[in-house]
Amino acid sequence: MCGIVAYIGPKDATTFLLEGLQRLEYRGYDSAGIAVLGKGGALKVCKTKGRVADLAAAVPARFKGTTGIGHTRWATHGVPSDANAHPHTDNADRIAVVHNGIIENADELRARLTAEGAVFTSETDTEVLAHLIFAHAAKDGELEDAVRAALKLVVGTYGIAVVDSAQPDRIVVARNGSPIVLGIGEKEMFAASDVAALVRYTRQVVHLEDGELATVRADGFRTFTEDARTVTRQPSTVDWEVGSYDTAGYEHYLLKEIHEQPAAVERTLSGRLDERFATAHLGGLNLDARELREIRRVKILGCGSAYYAGEMGAQLIEELARIPAHSEPASEFRYRNPVIEADTLYVAVSQSGETYDTLAAVQEIKRKGGRVLGVVNTVGSAIARECDGGIYLHAGPEISVASTKAFTSTVIAFALLALHFGRIHDLSPADGRRIVSGLRALPGHIREILGQEEQIAELAAKYADNAGMMFIGRVRGYPVAREGAQKLKEISYVHAEAYPASELKHGPLALISPELPTVALVPDDELLDKNLTTLGEIKARSGRVLAIGHRAPEAKLADHCIVVPKSEPELDPLLLNIPLQLLAYHAAVALGRDVDKPRNLAKSVTVE
Ligand code: F6R
Repeated sequence: MCGIVAYIGPKDATTFLLEGLQRLEYRGYDSAGIAVLGKGGALKVCKTKGRVADLAAAVPARFKGTTGIGHTRWATHGVPSDANAHPHTDNADRIAVVHNGIIENADELRARLTAEGAVFTSETDTEVLAHLIFAHAAKDGELEDAVRAALKLVVGTYGIAVVDSAQPDRIVVARNGSPIVLGIGEKEMFAASDVAALVRYTRQVVHLEDGELATVRADGFRTFTEDARTVTRQPSTVDWEVGSYDTAGYEHYLLKEIHEQPAAVERTLSGRLDERFATAHLGGLNLDARELREIRRVKILGCGSAYYAGEMGAQLIEELARIPAHSEPASEFRYRNPVIEADTLYVAVSQSGETYDTLAAVQEIKRKGGRVLGVVNTVGSAIARECDGGIYLHAGPEISVASTKAFTSTVIAFALLALHFGRIHDLSPADGRRIVSGLRALPGHIREILGQEEQIAELAAKYADNAGMMFIGRVRGYPVAREGAQKLKEISYVHAEAYPASELKHGPLALISPELPTVALVPDDELLDKNLTTLGEIKARSGRVLAIGHRAPEAKLADHCIVVPKSEPELDPLLLNIPLQLLAYHAAVALGRDVDKPRNLAKSVTVE
């Protein structure tokens, strides 16, 4: 949420800043801005409400400098406006700051600074940082000391980058709860909130830890703690190709990521399946078989689609390992003083590894002595680091705001965990083998579904112009319905409601009419007859039905049907979800929506 970039070196900073912001725009896109230090350190700031493209159009031709910082924003304090856009400066236009996160004691600091003479020009919490750093820089001299002193007064989370027109040979960055990564170039240095901004320029990066700062100069960097203790950080190499961060010829990142799923699933499975013992190997769990056997319950926590993937995960664990498992929104769990049990295994799910509510839930569990595994895509992210062990998805960078390939890879990770658990408990070797070969076949099945894109796009165009849509599924199908409804509403803005098929007649059947079509999950499993009965009830009320299943129901039960290949019953939900992704995508395109950057949203929700 919000993106930060910074450059110092011999070249014109503006080019990198604008390009880097473009790459980070998925983290927030309601306003953007840059600050550069021109000749003699003169501070120039350009910022605007709107997208990075609006900023690029607003930057004057003579906006030159070799040191600079930039920001793309998702508003928390104050509406999206030119004034609230970052960078923020002090009244002498000496210091400029860009910030991700939230300063919780901003009101108190603002009152104090105002009493001391500072004049605030925005409604943001960030502006207090500019005035505070200025006050200390004026006294202490060194920018790093001024930033450290200012941060000591601050309560909250931050990733920041700061420039000082009196010290144009450096940028100071700091991290506490919001990521900052340094990029090492040839006699030039970069910093950003995400490697996506850096990979075109360098693959050598250094991730700051919480509570760390760095002074970055063109020829190198120094990392240190808030108490000025130097810490040594070794660079690591980013292992994703530059192309992983491009649309690679697809019209949108979302479509690219939907099509990347077979490869993403192969990576999530890679090296983890064991045909001989009909199990899965998960090296990162940090739990031995005895510890796993002692687990009596599994509690899965995540937000949004990660929570729905957790619901599928809970079903997989219950079915394969026969251990009671339940998924709950991390955003609710953290506020309800949860009972933490020693024999419960907690699992935190997060693509970004940054979601604040999920991180807070993990911290709460750990504070109370619980054990947490992470199912995370972003290596080294805050949630991954906070957990006791876990499973990395290796799905590759997910840029589009709506999650697709990470969702699928998360369900795969849960299938592996459930298989591993199951084989330690009482899952038979035959059933273990059945799941292993079912998992191996999934990438091919997904390719087959993606091959039906044209037909699904035609259906999406037929169903897109309704005011709303109902999604229904039974037991294994219900989380699929929830995720399908979520995807449709977030990218097409069509209202969508998900219900267990069994609950329809207890209330929502009243909504059914020709104007409210139903997407029904009807897998060919032991509940097929029940599902077909529900379809009959909808059709009897003149409802339109789009069925997703393993064979087309009779024409009197469904108006349209998408047929998906049959896997093992436990793995079918994952495949039933793929057409729903394409349906949502093509509905959004048909309605002319901004598919990769839906309104009001941003990737990585790093605020409460
Ligand atoms: C929906 C979506 C969100 C995220 C949620 C959690 O398509 O992307 O609902 O799933 O914000 O994000 P992560 O997984 O990064 O913790």
